[in-house]
Amino acid sequence: MRYNSLVKILALETSCDETACAIVEDGVKELANTVSSSAALHEKTGGVVPEVAARKQVESIVPVIEECIKASRLEIPKDIDALAVTVGPGLIGSLLVGVEAAKTLALAWKKPLIPVNHLIGHVYSVFIGNKEAGNIAFPAVVLVVSGGHTDLVLMYDHGKFDYLGGTLDDAAGEAFDKVARLLGISRYLGGAKLSEKASLCKENTLAGKLPRPMLDREDYDLSFSGLKTAVKNLLKKEEHPVETVACEFENAVVDVLVDKTMRAAKEHKAKSIILGGGVAANKNLRARLKYEAQSIMTPVYIPHLKYCGDNAVYIASAAYFNNNPKDPSEILANPSLGIMD
Ligand code: KG4
Ligand code: ZN
Repeated sequence: MRYNSLVKILALETSCDETACAIVEDGVKELANTVSSSAALHEKTGGVVPEVAARKQVESIVPVIEECIKASRLEIPKDIDALAVTVGPGLIGSLLVGVEAAKTLALAWKKPLIPVNHLIGHVYSVFIGNKEAGNIAFPAVVLVVSGGHTDLVLMYDHGKFDYLGGTLDDAAGEAFDKVARLLGISRYLGGAKLSEKASLCKENTLAGKLPRPMLDREDYDLSFSGLKTAVKNLLKKEEHPVETVACEFENAVVDVLVDKTMRAAKEHKAKSIILGGGVAANKNLRARLKYEAQSIMTPVYIPHLKYCGDNAVYIASAAYFNNNPKDPSEILANPSLGIMD
């Protein structure tokens, strides 16, 4: 692969209910970014139905790739150097659509294909449009908070990670979604709406009433399912305004995430802190992490809002910085991939 300057990668991301294609230059410059979501369909059923998501991926993949190519104004395949694709984790039916499309294009266009772990992709959302991307100092403590995963890792360099800890049960985003449903705020992916409600709370009369799970433990593991149960039990016993419960719940999650991240940063003398994943869009988490990182004078990198949710831009970025193409015949979708795999 021509790897000196102006490397253009076309990436596909289809791990769940978003069909996404992007073209990115040198891992940091977005040239085109197309995302089509089937979330509205899953709102109706109150959760993602894997077969429905996969069928939508099949319907959307070709139009999304075509739209992305058109928007880039590039001559394809001549102008791109490589392809990249999310291989996992995610829903198998959804993943297969992107993986098979990328393999077909790589063979037809005679371009290298780089497989990307979706969770590592989230880490790279802070590199896009970031003039300091080349100067992010390692080791970095990385917190990835998404709908299906919550992991704390130490990043020594591109592609070099040590696992610090992660959730033992529900992911942070999953907890947001379940509590949003309990509070009648939203039936599907209610994290952002719950946070909006929380911001309307003028006085948190429930401050400290919900547990901060695993905060007293020395390790970096996390747990959010008990917190969801605590909300359920609280609602059974007492009546409180939705805004107040949302605010106290959000504070509990943010307290734990920020405390563990800062503790890891101090223990490992991190030179930077990186945040990624859908929950990175949470205003409270962004503000608290920034504030705490400033107090130990450690630069913190937080993705632009448009790169928090699933998209293919960060998949292309991760592919660029890790540059690990594989023979298409060896690339398989793996729904249960972990951040260290
Ligand atoms: O990374 P992502 O787009 O998909 C996965 O890879 O899972 O994350 C989606 C998760 C959902 O659980 C969604 O409710 C949550 O991110 N989320 C938020 C916010 N925006 C999205 N959670 C809390 N506050 C937000 N503002
Ligand atoms: Zn994601």
